[in-house]
Amino acid sequence: HEPLRVAVLGAGTVGADVLRLIRLNGEELAHRIGAPLRVIGIAVQDVSKDRGEHVDHALLTTDASALVREADLVVEVMGGIEPARGLLLEAIENGASVVTANKALLAQDGVTLYEAADEHGVDLHFEAAVAGAIPLVRPIRESLAGDRIQRVLGIVNGTTNYILDAMARTGAAFEDALARAQELGFAEADPTADVEGHDAAAKASILASLAFHTRVGLQDVHCEGITSVTSADIAAAARMGRTIKLLAIVERIADAEGTERISARVYPAMIPSSHPLASVGEAYNAVFIEAEAAGSLMFYGQGAGGAPTASAILGDLVTVARQRVLGGVGPRESRYADLEIVGIGSL
Ligand code: NDP
Ligand code: HSE
Repeated sequence: HEPLRVAVLGAGTVGADVLRLIRLNGEELAHRIGAPLRVIGIAVQDVSKDRGEHVDHALLTTDASALVREADLVVEVMGGIEPARGLLLEAIENGASVVTANKALLAQDGVTLYEAADEHGVDLHFEAAVAGAIPLVRPIRESLAGDRIQRVLGIVNGTTNYILDAMARTGAAFEDALARAQELGFAEADPTADVEGHDAAAKASILASLAFHTRVGLQDVHCEGITSVTSADIAAAARMGRTIKLLAIVERIADAEGTERISARVYPAMIPSSHPLASVGEAYNAVFIEAEAAGSLMFYGQGAGGAPTASAILGDLVTVARQRVLGGVGPRESRYADLEIVGIGSL
């Protein structure tokens, strides 16, 4: 099979690791896919920056739009709403399959992207958008597609978990712990998205949309971050045998008449220190999925950082590349249930 032309949009924390893995594992990936991957360009803002040995400087460009028009597969790891949204639509309209880690964009306007992908018969995959390396999108979209999910609950933001954990374990100050999370590549370009809960809310909206086959937007998610959590709060919780964690919860709820609605919320919660979520440290994430037939499933792993996120991207890249070689498209997002979304619901 001819080489598949890959455009990578962004070569920051995640993009640099995506490029490293493609370079190091290229031969093996070609066997798994049935065709080699050829990176034809890497879109960045500043072509003069040093990006390490795995980023081929000859491939750097600031003309992302020209790049996506030449590609079979587009990996979007630049973040933000525009120009990422316009570039992904351009890629899809041009017949390219797309892999993105951009939860902010998916939560704000995923529907436009899903519909464009449907219309043009191409794949749109986004495992890396929720909880870094942890497979959640695929299990919900595929493994549990025949079951009925009641609730998804857990820790889905690595930066805030890192901060709360450092404050609890070492007595670190909020600002110092945040600065360290930024250095380690866990935080968003603007860490307000992490500490105010917006990143977790974006992930909650994606999880709820997938789990309940409906459209839950960012505005539907009740959102409180961790900026008002103090060291004194954490110490007081510990004295009561409790641990403070930023939780995302999406669930089906029924009112007194039995009418089913969706509740989606993100907030710092005091949980018993004996609960499995209480021992999730550093930038790790952990998520429970409760489904009617499967019962309770727990997913745990590295929720942020370049390499873990690149692992999820590469998994999607292999999937869309295989579809390209073998023909056909993967799971779709387009069949929606008519469910009312009530925001916070009952806590
Ligand atoms: P970075 O800020 O480290 O990297 C962003 C990259 O995109 C940079 O190379 C930057 O170029 C490039 N870029 C930004 N805007 C443009 C533009 N307008 N045109 C061309 N290039 C542009 O971000 P991350 O790698 O941390 O995150 C990337 C995406 O992955 C985001 O959507 C984020 O939410 C998501 N994500 C991140 C995770 C993490 O742990 N970091 C985990 C899961 C998802 P330049 O280098 O020249 O500035
Ligand atoms: N900023 C995000 C986090 C990156 O800390 O979880 C992973 O999505």
